[in-house]
Amino acid sequence: MKNKFYITTPIYYPSAEAHIGHAYCTTMCDILARAKRMRGFETYFLTGVDEHGEKIQKKAQEKGVTPQQYVDEIAEKFKVLWKAMKISNDDFIRTTQERHMTVVQNIFSKMLKNDDIYLGKYEGWYCTPCESFWTDTQVGEEHLCPDCHRPVHKAEEECYFFKTSKYVDQLVKHYEANPKFITPVSRKNEMMNTFINKGLDDLSVSRTSFDWGIPIRENNKHVLYVWLDALCNYITALGYDTDHPELFKKFWEDPNCEIVHVVGADITRFHVIYWPMFLTSLGLRLPDRVFVHGLLDLNGEKMSKSRGNVVSPFPLIERYGVDTVRWFLAKEFSFGSDGRFTPESFAERINVDLANNFGNLVNRTTSMISKYFEGVVPELKNPGEKEKSIRALSEKTIKAYENLMDDLKVSEALNEVVELLNVANKYIEESQPWVLSKEGKTEELGNVMAVLTSTIITCTKLLSPVLVETTDKVYALFNLTEEQKTYEFTENFCGFTGNHVEKGSPLFPRLDIALETEYINSLTK
Ligand code: MSP
Repeated sequence: MKNKFYITTPIYYPSAEAHIGHAYCTTMCDILARAKRMRGFETYFLTGVDEHGEKIQKKAQEKGVTPQQYVDEIAEKFKVLWKAMKISNDDFIRTTQERHMTVVQNIFSKMLKNDDIYLGKYEGWYCTPCESFWTDTQVGEEHLCPDCHRPVHKAEEECYFFKTSKYVDQLVKHYEANPKFITPVSRKNEMMNTFINKGLDDLSVSRTSFDWGIPIRENNKHVLYVWLDALCNYITALGYDTDHPELFKKFWEDPNCEIVHVVGADITRFHVIYWPMFLTSLGLRLPDRVFVHGLLDLNGEKMSKSRGNVVSPFPLIERYGVDTVRWFLAKEFSFGSDGRFTPESFAERINVDLANNFGNLVNRTTSMISKYFEGVVPELKNPGEKEKSIRALSEKTIKAYENLMDDLKVSEALNEVVELLNVANKYIEESQPWVLSKEGKTEELGNVMAVLTSTIITCTKLLSPVLVETTDKVYALFNLTEEQKTYEFTENFCGFTGNHVEKGSPLFPRLDIALETEYINSLTK
């Protein structure tokens, strides 16, 4: 099993302000990174912004500022959002940084020298929003972009091409030998049918029609195609081809490091076709997995600023707290499938999982320990069948959670924990502590409290990559020692005897669905 983990988000275009869809991808990566760190994997988590290209240049012109001023402002906003979302990225790369641009110029020179890039002429259909050229067959009779379905126009320019034909067989072999390279597998089939089986043209990798890009040293009429520039961020951020390549060696070059790119379905092609080819051209290893998540819509409609239906995470964080937003994103949607954001589903998800299940369990347990044991966690003595079965379930849950997280199945891993919380709540109903107390069955009553405490702490730990603020609150309620807070301590079932417990206010107040739905609806703009 690999003991290092390198995970990346796509680098976002600062052409619009970040919305809940962008926050989705970054939050899922953050959860995966935190879950690995918690278990002792050496982890590196990268995000950033993709700042070049015609689209950005046009936006800056519209605003009457320079492209650099424009991207500086929006890059800052992304940073502020990730801070508010408690994103634990180790670095934030911007493609206008010197550390990126110089290395990308070297990469282009290498590819040119290797004869993987040549100068030619491009005639084709151009889609400005996607910054992509397409062939006659791809745009069809209606002349629409096959990616975004907007109209394309005829364009011709001198440009450099990357020889995709040289690498396509090797790529397909790689897919076959590594069935998890593209996850879910349906995305691999889509790539084969839509692009590879139809025959790939050489990829145009330079532009002369605008200048907001990385200049090509060998021919300064040209700037680099934004996708070649952007994809390289995954290695330039680690110091590839510099005099300080430590991170690159430590993560990219170590076969014991698992490399995962998480991307949205709309940009799969670039990550699973061209990026592997670029890496092969440079003689570098490929990532282990490209995980493709679905896109979130709002009430069934694609989120976009022009439609006026974009939800910003900020007001949600402000009103409900960052943990609830993170929880909703992680739990509501099955990672890998498209998802529908509705205001009702947000409020309901918080009530069902956090207020009624997790929060309620903590609240009831701390109250009972205060009431029956003067706030001190009792010892587990002579456990009965129920206690033994919860212990077994707890151990099984930890294993299942680890395996599912390792397989990037975040929502499924969280389901396992929610199931354990459900069982713990049922255990209260079945054991009826209030009856045990009345009947003076102190040992049995103590066992229930010890088992509930242990289950709460195990679940809190497993949920800590998502519920980053709540975790500390629960640890404080149970006065955990530093040792008890460690992940390894989950092996000590009922290891909390003697801890002093505080009675706190509810962790997650129950939401009024109608009221909150109205509030969230008022936020869409
Ligand atoms: N700059 C490129 C990526 C370059 S990576 C080398 C780009 N940027 S983007 O800002 O348009 O999109 C970034 C990511 O956000 C993509 O993975 C995209 O799928 C994701 N999302 C944008 N809108 C989304 C939703 N509504 N839902 C989920 N993810 C969404 O493409």
